[in-house]
Amino acid sequence: MNDNTCVLLKRRSEGVPVAEDFELVTRPAEQPGAGQLLCETRYLSLDPYLRGRISGRHLSGAILPGELMGGEAVCQVLESGDERFQPGDWLAAYSGWQRYPVVDADSVRTVDPGLGPVSTTLGILGMPGLTAYAGLLRLGEPKAGDTVLVSAATGPVGSMVAQIAQIKGGRAVGIAGSPDKCAWAVEQAGMAGCINYKEEDLREGVKRLCPDGVDVYFDNVGGECLQVAMENLALGARVVLCGLMAQYNTDEMPPGPNPAWVIKARATVRGMVVYDHEDLRPQFLSDASLWLKEDRIRYLEDVTEGLENAPDAFHRLMTGQNFGKALVKVS
Ligand SMILES: NC(=O)c1ccc[n+]([C@@H]2O[C@H](COP(=O)([O-])OP(=O)(O)OC[C@H]3O[C@@H](n4cnc5c(N)ncnc54)[C@H](OP(=O)(O)O)[C@@H]3O)[C@@H](O)[C@H]2O)c1
Repeated sequence: MNDNTCVLLKRRSEGVPVAEDFELVTRPAEQPGAGQLLCETRYLSLDPYLRGRISGRHLSGAILPGELMGGEAVCQVLESGDERFQPGDWLAAYSGWQRYPVVDADSVRTVDPGLGPVSTTLGILGMPGLTAYAGLLRLGEPKAGDTVLVSAATGPVGSMVAQIAQIKGGRAVGIAGSPDKCAWAVEQAGMAGCINYKEEDLREGVKRLCPDGVDVYFDNVGGECLQVAMENLALGARVVLCGLMAQYNTDEMPPGPNPAWVIKARATVRGMVVYDHEDLRPQFLSDASLWLKEDRIRYLEDVTEGLENAPDAFHRLMTGQNFGKALVKVS
């Protein structure tokens, strides 16, 4: 039987992962039992989330030193212990960095080579593609004519976001990290423009390419890209927080609110301006006055006597010394 070449995590990466963090070993390939498949890996998917698994921060759990590196692969069946699969069949499995995995037939996803080149089942027709599709259409809610800004614009997630946005009648603008990437984004993926944030002024680029603001920002990066996109949001914009390339390689969390918590909680963050909700006032008054009468609402007032004391009272409010709604009893 063949030797199985495997890559193990040797030690937790510090900063950007380097080759020395991994170890190549050869083990005898296992035999498949009932319900199992011996496969040969054709393509292995390398995804940014694996960095999070190495540091133990990703939702799918940690990979520990000494363990096989994880990841999804597209494989062909060599020997089948399950009647649903024949040698030669294509499948995708989270079988990790190894040449000859043995996998449970129930845990794999069948791959139809008729849908596209088999490698795409790990990219645009796989997990990253679904991320783009669901993230943009379900959370970004793009409308025809919207300007959709996306970072990491030439990766499988970003490039799909941009192209789906355009298929849906939007205008996609990319942010990417090299002239070649930007050229591809415009010439091949059809984006209206692409900003090379490593060589151009990102702020100026976003203003120039999104003059009416950003209707949908699909963030794969965090950091400066998120900051600049937020500065340029159009009224009613939607922001999809998807990835954090700018911070995966650091142990220290950047200052300020961290999008990681929003992503982890699948939370919705929305801007609030009370003036937009005047239509609710009659209903609000009717409800709240009733709750007040029924003693279901309690409240506090911090009343300062005399207009002349208003400046002091204001100072107390702005330094948090008020206890309840700050009011001045003028007469
Ligand atoms: N939330 C989810 O369920 C989910 C699912 C899948 C993927 N994701 C996220 O989606 C994002 C894109 O994934 P992908 O598979 O399509 O990857 P990708 O775009 O092929 O690769 C990552 C890209 O990020 C960019 N980048 C920006 N800042 C970077 C930095 N400081 N260091 C390194 N790279 C940086 C680089 O492109 P430039 O040179 O163009 O900047 C790099 O090529 C990732 O953040 C990933 O974690 C999230």
